[in-house]
Amino acid sequence: MSNNTIQIKIEVKKSGLKRKLDEIIRSIEGMHVQMSHDTRRADLLIFELGNDTENEFQHIRSLLNSDVVAEVFLISENSDPAVLMQAIKTGAKEFFTLPLKEEEVKQALKELKKKIKRANRRNSPEIGQIITVVGSKGGIGTTTVAINLAVNLAEKQNVKSVALIDMNMMFGEIPLFLEIKPGYDWGEIVKNISRLDSTFLMNILTKHSSGVHILPSPGSLNGSASAAPEMMGHLTGFMQKLFDFVIIDAGQSANEITLKILEMSDNVLLMSLLSLPCLSNTNKLLQSISDLGFLPEERIKIIINRYLTKSEISLQDAEEGIHKKIFWTIPNDYGTTMSAINNGKPLSGIAPKAQITKNLNNLTDTFAPKEEKQPTKWWKILSNRS
Ligand SMILES: Nc1ncnc2c1ncn2[C@@H]1O[C@H](COP(=O)(O)OP(=O)(O)OP(=O)(O)O)[C@@H](O)[C@H]1O
Ligand SMILES: [Mg+2]
Repeated sequence: MSNNTIQIKIEVKKSGLKRKLDEIIRSIEGMHVQMSHDTRRADLLIFELGNDTENEFQHIRSLLNSDVVAEVFLISENSDPAVLMQAIKTGAKEFFTLPLKEEEVKQALKELKKKIKRANRRNSPEIGQIITVVGSKGGIGTTTVAINLAVNLAEKQNVKSVALIDMNMMFGEIPLFLEIKPGYDWGEIVKNISRLDSTFLMNILTKHSSGVHILPSPGSLNGSASAAPEMMGHLTGFMQKLFDFVIIDAGQSANEITLKILEMSDNVLLMSLLSLPCLSNTNKLLQSISDLGFLPEERIKIIINRYLTKSEISLQDAEEGIHKKIFWTIPNDYGTTMSAINNGKPLSGIAPKAQITKNLNNLTDTFAPKEEKQPTKWWKILSNRS
């Protein structure tokens, strides 16, 4: 049995109910129902409430507090508000009423599985972070942010490796922005997906002088149009094992591939401007993502680019319009961003002291691991003397 198997304890009164739950759980890969005498910690307890709810809630609370179980799903015949209130207070994640709706339970278990998988991934230092930059419109600075984020990360003391993937089919511009001439793009990998290993991948990637490894998008639809979302998901997941950070310029498309990548992302930077059309698109995107239900809301970060303090639409208006807090604003600086593009350099290479460069470096710091404190200068002097 793999260590990643989700352990489930079942405490129910009716044997028919136990059989039903066993059957549902067996239909989902990677889950295991513990025997009644198993004392190991469980990821989930499925508990059926009876008549003695006071003692039963007390029992559940003590299991949760002592971390014998991590999550609880409750089943009850009785859905009166007082019981529901108690269930919420106790921290139960789901409440099912009898007769059990199989699909509902299945869905909740699948959600739990995803959540545990994500948490495991986060706790595993070998797996890198995926940050996807996506535009709510074209031409609003998505590529500028993706590139500078990747380059800034590569310059951080605690970051060993960064990859940058261009997902803009046909119109990828990363090679132009960074003045590189890549020999290959991800179309090459998609055509030979069965050969994907680290040697093959590293041969395909182009290394920029900043240290960022770049995977451009195909410049034509030939052969790559058939790239299935699963293939791109597999490729991105593979890169995650090799790099501390995988930054993705997803452009503004919301196709199946983008959705797959969004689902895998630890953070999604949703680019917007303080303009009505852009905020309206941002709203639509947020709504669609929420309807699809595959990406927790807190992983989406709204970034307002080209921010002017005297804008007609205030940040507060925008937040009210999109029903979400704005995570970051990037100042308007057409001259510096254009000069960086025209010179094929990141902002830190063209204008290290500019406000926009510092702003993007500060944005990068919110994702980079904290740097170790350098010894103070006097300490360095003393240690050099001895
Ligand atoms: N903070 C900013 N202030 C002013 N201009 C900016 C800013 N960020 C980007 N720009 C300008 O916006 C234009 C588009 O930038 P960029 O190519 O990064 O956007 P994009 O969303 O990737 O566009 P596309 O949809 O073509 O891929 C460029 O001319 C760039 O100079
Ligand atoms: Mg772009």
